[in-house]
Amino acid sequence: MRILGIETSCDETAAAVIEDGYLLLSNVVASSMDLHAKYGGVIPEIAARSHIESILPVIQKALKDAKCSWNDIDAIAVTYGAGLGGSLLIGVLAARTLAIVHHKPLYAINHVEAHVYANFLTQTDLPGYTMRQSQPTFPILAIIVSGGHSQLALFDDHFTYKLLGQTQDDAIGEAFDKVAKMIGLPYPGGPNISKAAMHGDGFAIKLPKAKMNEKYDFSFSGLKTAVLRQAQAQIGQDYTFPSTKLPERLSEPQKANIAASFQRIALETMVDKALLAFQEFSPSSVVIAGGVAASPELRQQLLDRLPLPIDFPDLKLCTDNGAMVATLGYFKAVSRQAQADPYSLDIEPNLSM
Ligand code: KG4
Ligand code: ZN
Repeated sequence: MRILGIETSCDETAAAVIEDGYLLLSNVVASSMDLHAKYGGVIPEIAARSHIESILPVIQKALKDAKCSWNDIDAIAVTYGAGLGGSLLIGVLAARTLAIVHHKPLYAINHVEAHVYANFLTQTDLPGYTMRQSQPTFPILAIIVSGGHSQLALFDDHFTYKLLGQTQDDAIGEAFDKVAKMIGLPYPGGPNISKAAMHGDGFAIKLPKAKMNEKYDFSFSGLKTAVLRQAQAQIGQDYTFPSTKLPERLSEPQKANIAASFQRIALETMVDKALLAFQEFSPSSVVIAGGVAASPELRQQLLDRLPLPIDFPDLKLCTDNGAMVATLGYFKAVSRQAQADPYSLDIEPNLSM
């Protein structure tokens, strides 16, 4: 069974074809990131316009790379939430139209759940991919760390999961992006914090971990403020010093130490909770999902601290892509989950897990 997946929830216009829930046949991503970089964050209007321009060429390339015609596609899966309204709308309208024109079943996909399903892809002939050795087995503990979400979820089976905990304020990726901006690293912050941190000492700057009432919840807002105060202190200033002037005053070694210390604490916060959940629920597999799952530091901390071998998805399957959407679509199709109505499927920008 071959599924076409379409993803346009943020600034990536993405489409992919997967087969039987494990084989990646194509994975095309056109990002409007460069257009947002000069603003230091995604501008919804610009993202939506870019989706309009890219959506059809991206879908056509996904079919071509997979050597598929429409006859070879069994169903279409599309992200309908969570995300930016204007962005989601382009993907959903394209998918609805294509489903009607080509008489294909349509599946509506939750973006955050889809991130978890990147872990089911284990094979590809595409060049440049390092795939997982095997699919995860249930029960699965999912550590979800993206730009918009930070959650711990326990999956007992496909479509049967419970949310153990989540962030009470910023998502972890958002915190990476904001700290990067604060110390003058370019957008997107996550990969640039990762790079800068390689030259810094993760123990150089003392930062707090938030204490939460709920065992599996976390918070990153206080950490962000603590980073600001420490950055001000590094240049001998107090809390009144404007954050916008920090980049020009901080030296490269100071920036590297801030990046490394923030990264260590932010990721440790997630790994601490994952370890607690591992001890309580004894999952058979632990998976990481979302853009921050591309972080080498997160992968290293998990390998060091969790008492089971962990298999990681390819970096290109961690950030937003159509393959994860198609994979979840496949499992919906084979488990006879409800199809979406191509004449009425609406977006849900605030969809949660
Ligand atoms: O999942 P994603 O592509 O988009 C959302 O669904 O939000 O995640 C994007 C987030 C951004 O905040 C970005 O800074 C972060 O993932 N990210 C990273 C790395 N690569 C991307 N964070 C830390 N280390 C990385 N290597
Ligand atoms: Zn995402």
